[in-house]
Amino acid sequence: MAGCRSWFFYFTVCAVGVFGANAEIKFTIPVGRLFTYELMRETFQNDFEPLSKLYAGRLYDDAMTFKCNRQNYPDLPEWLRFTQRHSYDNGFLYGTPTSPGKSIIEVYAVNKRSYETARQILVIKIVPEKMLPYQAEFFIKLREVEKVLPSSVQDEIKQDLQKLWDTEALEIVNVTNALDRGGRVPLPIAGHFEGVYVKVGSEQYFSDCLLKVQSPGYQRQCSAEAKVKIPGGCNFCSIPSNCITWCKIELFDLTKQEPSPPAPTVGSGILESGGDFNPPESPPSRDYIPDYIVTVIVPLILAIILCLLLAYIMYGRREGVEKRNGKTNEIQLYHHHTILDNTDELRNMSGNRGVSPPLSTLPMFNSRTGERAPPLHSDSPTIPLIMAQHDPYSDTLPRK
Ligand SMILES: *[C@@H]1O[C@H](CO)[C@@H](O)[C@H](O)[C@H]1NC(C)=O
Repeated sequence: MAGCRSWFFYFTVCAVGVFGANAEIKFTIPVGRLFTYELMRETFQNDFEPLSKLYAGRLYDDAMTFKCNRQNYPDLPEWLRFTQRHSYDNGFLYGTPTSPGKSIIEVYAVNKRSYETARQILVIKIVPEKMLPYQAEFFIKLREVEKVLPSSVQDEIKQDLQKLWDTEALEIVNVTNALDRGGRVPLPIAGHFEGVYVKVGSEQYFSDCLLKVQSPGYQRQCSAEAKVKIPGGCNFCSIPSNCITWCKIELFDLTKQEPSPPAPTVGSGILESGGDFNPPESPPSRDYIPDYIVTVIVPLILAIILCLLLAYIMYGRREGVEKRNGKTNEIQLYHHHTILDNTDELRNMSGNRGVSPPLSTLPMFNSRTGERAPPLHSDSPTIPLIMAQHDPYSDTLPRK
């Protein structure tokens, strides 16, 4: 299988050089096993740089980001995840397919220096495979998911676990970032890692070492959070950063699981004939007269009664008018005549404007003695309007 993959890989690298964007990489993978594909920056760098430039000795190491999606869809298939820690790191596509089928994945690499893009197409064919009946999940505290996904690291981890399980027939089933399981983002200090869950499966039953973890005594030690001792002869950790956390081992015996309920049977898609359609009884007709009376007639009658009452109070029972009802016209006529008389009087008065005006309207009239001052020739230009005004240019005089 590995040889096959690398053959495809070489084929594709050539194809990229010759055909450009139409390169396809093909994979055939089984259901229920971890699939990992590393998006190598070097490969895409070759796409971005013409070979002549490479031979001229100019080697770039550009920052790159990747965008991956299922062809003609906005996102990746449900089972496939993408991760890239930093634009100077390689990206990874990884995941465990759960059902057979075919996925076509488009990968766009964006060069962060030149903003060129390169495209790669992965054709992933998923073939059915028997589930591994015995599975176990381990937590590796001192790792990050990108550090576990390179195949060399996967192999190292697998070797340790093979010794622990006491079998060679072991497959990695799933790898999960602890942050996806509610883990906390670590402090950005050396020695703090996100942590990774690695799930492996085998045809062979769990080893004694693995079963010891399940024993009640061991579980008690774990919940007490004391320094737990790894059972004697079970520590197969060869590289410190790959060491598993003993209290976080989980075993899954899929043979003991109750079978999943059978899938619902799919019918022909055509409804069976069940006689004529019988429409439901229409509801009894409703009588709206009482509603009409309550909401319209009763308020209307009340409104009319109130109107009549108000009209009676306003016109029929006015104090004073009622008694002299016959005389009203006379009074109104009287008022009319008075107004006419007064108008005539005013007209006459305005006709007699020729008469000399009353003394009090004359200027300089002393109201006590009746004496009149000779009228001033106010029209004369010799008299200044404001007597006390100073000459504006004479203020050179010293002031006291
Ligand atoms: C693998 O792990 C992810 C994340 O925990 C989960 O969503 C997915 O269902 C797992 N796949 C399998 C086949 O167990």
